[in-house]
Amino acid sequence: MSNIQSILHETRVFNPSDDFVKQANVSGMAGYRAMCDAAAKDYAGFWANLARETILWHKPFTRSLDESKAPFYKWFEDGELNVSYNCLDKHLGTQPEKTAIIFEADDGKVTKVSYRELHARVCQFANGLKSRGIKKGDRVIVYMPMSVEAVIAMQACARIGAIHSVVFGGFSSKSLHERITDAQAVAVITSDGQFRGGKAMALKPAVDEALGLGGCDAVHTVVVYRRTGGEVQWNSKNNIWWHDLVAGQGSSCEPEWVGAEHPLFILYTSGSTGKPKGVQHSTGGYLLGAMLSMKWVFDYKASDIFWCTADVGWITGHSYVAYGPLAMGATQVVFEGVPTYPDAGRFWKMIQDHKVTTFYTAPTAIRSLIKLGGDLPKQYDLSSLRLLGSVGEPINPEAWMWYYTVVGQSRCPIVDTWWQTETGCHMIAPLPGAMPIKPGTCTLPLPGIMATIVNEAGDEVFDQHGGFLVIKKPFPSQIRTIWGDPERYKKGYFPEEMKGAYLAGDSAHRDEDGYFWIMGRIDDVLNVSGHRLGTMEIESALVANPLVAEAAVVGKPHEIKGEAVVAFVVLKGARPTDAATAKKLAEELRNWVGKEIGPIAKPDEIRFGENLPKTRSGKIMRRLLRAVAKGEEITQDVSTLENPAILEQLKEVVR
Ligand code: PRX
Repeated sequence: MSNIQSILHETRVFNPSDDFVKQANVSGMAGYRAMCDAAAKDYAGFWANLARETILWHKPFTRSLDESKAPFYKWFEDGELNVSYNCLDKHLGTQPEKTAIIFEADDGKVTKVSYRELHARVCQFANGLKSRGIKKGDRVIVYMPMSVEAVIAMQACARIGAIHSVVFGGFSSKSLHERITDAQAVAVITSDGQFRGGKAMALKPAVDEALGLGGCDAVHTVVVYRRTGGEVQWNSKNNIWWHDLVAGQGSSCEPEWVGAEHPLFILYTSGSTGKPKGVQHSTGGYLLGAMLSMKWVFDYKASDIFWCTADVGWITGHSYVAYGPLAMGATQVVFEGVPTYPDAGRFWKMIQDHKVTTFYTAPTAIRSLIKLGGDLPKQYDLSSLRLLGSVGEPINPEAWMWYYTVVGQSRCPIVDTWWQTETGCHMIAPLPGAMPIKPGTCTLPLPGIMATIVNEAGDEVFDQHGGFLVIKKPFPSQIRTIWGDPERYKKGYFPEEMKGAYLAGDSAHRDEDGYFWIMGRIDDVLNVSGHRLGTMEIESALVANPLVAEAAVVGKPHEIKGEAVVAFVVLKGARPTDAATAKKLAEELRNWVGKEIGPIAKPDEIRFGENLPKTRSGKIMRRLLRAVAKGEEITQDVSTLENPAILEQLKEVVR
């Protein structure tokens, strides 16, 4: 870690206003510290009290944390509950007519759904799933565009105890196939297509292709929601329209009461090997994390209009679209389209139109909107905003300052939230009525989250050099296992050197106030536009191409995306020497990766070499490649390279 130095030295500090502090769910540092102290004093009791206060239990639990089979932790295990009941039924007595979802379509059309309607529609769809024989524990893939129906599909699975696995609509049929087979899913819920940026795009063909790749025999049902009205290939053996499935179904459905440890969902994410891992989350602990972070970090109030721009295909869309806001009884915005259509003022117009109070998005979106129209927010009335959030990647201080001053008009605190697919909810983030904030740091751990920084030996370090970010104690919302691969879970997240702590996979350091600064991944995982991509995954995709002999993928800093994908490729045939051939081949390989994984994984740059730089033992020298990708001077010892001339080749960018 010694090479990691803080390049940031941020001195700007912003205190929450007195008005914000007064109304906050957690006020002042004293309020925050008191909760941290309570957690330190009686850890299991702290969480048990919160779980009792926050969740409606069908059967109360008697045990809080069970560490007997560490690191396979259990929380509230003998309690029974249903997440959908906690998100919907709970509000029927108190606020049935409150709007749960304000759906804005790509074309601007707005549909509002009340809690009463949402409950009825979830029940109908749940009954529909049951009519197809889908039951507790079955895995159901959701491959849908952003829509009310996507939320309904997830909630309906939760209602009947089926385990959903949402696959982002931007993933290819191959990626979808990998997830269907790994999860051994029995059903796929999809749509004919989706609208984005004024264009209709088909989605169903990817499902047909995936199922055609074999190994999906368990899939007996494909539910198709009609969104675009485009033509679809119909397989009458297992296809059924959404509207046909729900026709005649009753609008009430008794929730399936499940144990707190029953898996609520699996969500695939990239790791350091070629195979994505199915992160398995629990029911009770996950719900608790989603709700507490809504209350603490988003300072949720019943009068809020909450908008998280993430797609339900990612963990952010699970915790802060499909579950957290509904469990709190919030009114939230769900958006089908893209931030740049019809122009780069779309987000700001929507904040104005829907009087959004809490806005949560990714730094990559902020950076691209600054570039496309840094003055645009000024054309809209953003006075409804009271809190801003950032997620998914480090936010650079310049983007932070713009977000703070131009969007938030220096009035709204920014919560820079650090967390992961595996953690289920925010881990390190400001409680906005308590902590002074600084651009670029996610500040301090949530109460009860024992996050710290350690060296290679697992010993805590407090200096500015930093080390590995770990969480010392198990917490309710954490990953339970990797679906079908408990060994990978154990080895990957709880390596022996870490002395039982959860290894997050990020490096970080602390400043003089103890604030955490995230520096980036320590493994071969890239963060491209806030999307997590494994370099090995992209490499496997490249070498699956018949033209490719070998490939190495690294990241390099990118102004908008945070990180860009650079692929070094050795072809089976001769290295292209003329620019036109190289360009054609690079384009072909980019599209290939788009088909293998999805457009988000397409390399930004492809460089061809006759070989790759390797150590004597045959390991690719990735550090060297990262330097080459960045265009840095090579200061490392390259005397062991078989063929130093290849470095010159690899410096050549295909344009
Ligand atoms: O590297 C960290 C980065 O995103 C990773 C987790 O990615 P994923 O599981 O896809 O979840 C993203 C949404 C929670 C982390 O290991 N990351 C996430 N949030 C931040 C961040 N890096 C810096 N600052 C953040 N606020």
